[in-house]
Amino acid sequence: MAKVLVMHGPNLNLLGRREPDIYGYETLSDINDMLQKQAAAQGVEADFFQSNHEGALVDALQQAQIDGVDFIILNAAAYTHYSIAIRDAIAAIQVPVIEVHISNVHTREEFRHNSVIAPVVMGQILGFGIDSYYAAMAVALKKIKEKG
Ligand code: DQA
Repeated sequence: MAKVLVMHGPNLNLLGRREPDIYGYETLSDINDMLQKQAAAQGVEADFFQSNHEGALVDALQQAQIDGVDFIILNAAAYTHYSIAIRDAIAAIQVPVIEVHISNVHTREEFRHNSVIAPVVMGQILGFGIDSYYAAMAVALKKIKEKG
């Protein structure tokens, strides 16, 4: 069975309670439930991982390669903007990664405008609220189907 790993970085465990005017009222488990159903409808397994720790996210990226994950959907949260370790881990694995953000980072503070992971991901989807994840999953499922 094909597998998609959905990874959430720091503070995303607080979704629903964290700055809801920016990130909305849905919780992380609401998002994961939505994605799990979306994947299951296409016969694809979805796994989920959240960590507030950079090294744990690096370990999970490396492990995804070992586990034969087909696609990664990654919201690296604040690490997006400065973690060379996460960027290098993405570059080190062959699993394609879709970068996701709930908010439109380009309309926010300047320090959010740059993504150090952008050059090593397949593409970015951002600014659509939790539908950014939905769109990323749709792309991953389509690519998996095309690959056969
Ligand atoms: C975020 C945007 C980041 O700048 C921020 O640090 C986050 C969430 C988003 O999903 O909009 O924690 O990745």
